[in-house]
Amino acid sequence: MSTVPATNRALLMLLCSAISACSGGTTTSSIEPGATLDGSADASSTEGGTSELDASMALATDAGDTDSGCPNSRPDGDGGCLPPSVRRPFLVGASLRAAEASERDDWSALSVATAAHGLDAKTAHLLAETWLKDALEEHASVAAFARFTMHLLSVGAPPELLLMAQRAGIDEIAHARACFALAARYGKRRGPTPLRVHDAMSARSLAQIAQIAAEEGCVGETLGAVLAREQLAIVTDASARKVLRKIAADEVRHAELSWRFVRWAVQHGDREVATSVRRGIARAIKGTLAAEERRYDVDHAAWRAHGRLTCHTSKEVARRAIDEVVMPCLERV
Ligand SMILES: [Fe+2]
Ligand SMILES: [Fe+2]
Repeated sequence: MSTVPATNRALLMLLCSAISACSGGTTTSSIEPGATLDGSADASSTEGGTSELDASMALATDAGDTDSGCPNSRPDGDGGCLPPSVRRPFLVGASLRAAEASERDDWSALSVATAAHGLDAKTAHLLAETWLKDALEEHASVAAFARFTMHLLSVGAPPELLLMAQRAGIDEIAHARACFALAARYGKRRGPTPLRVHDAMSARSLAQIAQIAAEEGCVGETLGAVLAREQLAIVTDASARKVLRKIAADEVRHAELSWRFVRWAVQHGDREVATSVRRGIARAIKGTLAAEERRYDVDHAAWRAHGRLTCHTSKEVARRAIDEVVMPCLERV
């Protein structure tokens, strides 16, 4: 435990606390520190729920991102880190589902961004592509949480989990709008095409729902929380920092929700549920570690200043988070 960085240790403690608090058929008043009876959340107390994690960020050091390239790439070489993603993936079958980018400006209208100066054209282009990819994935996360809410209802989950799922979906809309706005700032003013959802919802058993939650949430959002924190630790650009600060805080709560749910599912289901959770986590980890890395020649100082990790660093951060957070949490489910 002593070799685990403070940030991962703090996240592990928070998630373990959430897992242990979700016991039996009883609901827990501490399921969301900022929750109130009317379903609203008090900002200050919600922040208090992750204060230890926030405090630990002060200890986070710049890891010396010395790898020589591959800022976030897609196989087509058009920018945007393939995996690991910092978003909750929207899985339809074994495939990640997201909309495409389209020419529209309603999703990028937020005034989160001041002009970015001093970037070379290639770096600005890749920053735009990468934030656009994030935006489309955040947009897809809205669907993932909408479906998760329906799944929760279908298995009789407690109200606290439903509240968290609904709030998380709203968080994801905000994340998507902010990322679209940042993409526009770097040169690509876009929004999403219609998202195909016709085949995304069908009757599922508790074990199947738990497996999806394990993949999308326990792995996807836990790594998302860690990666967003890593981005927040390196960003110096004020606009990108503002966006990342919110995303990083929200993704911790989303990860917490996922672990709470799978714990609840394991406690309320048969042995197949626990098996499915492990299967889902194993599948998500395998996919993450199989991620392709590509190298691109950009201004690395600017890349980092604008809050972007390289593919290599992202993968290393994810690998550590799997060992130091995901697997220990799984042992407590
Ligand atoms: Fe998000
Ligand atoms: Fe999320």
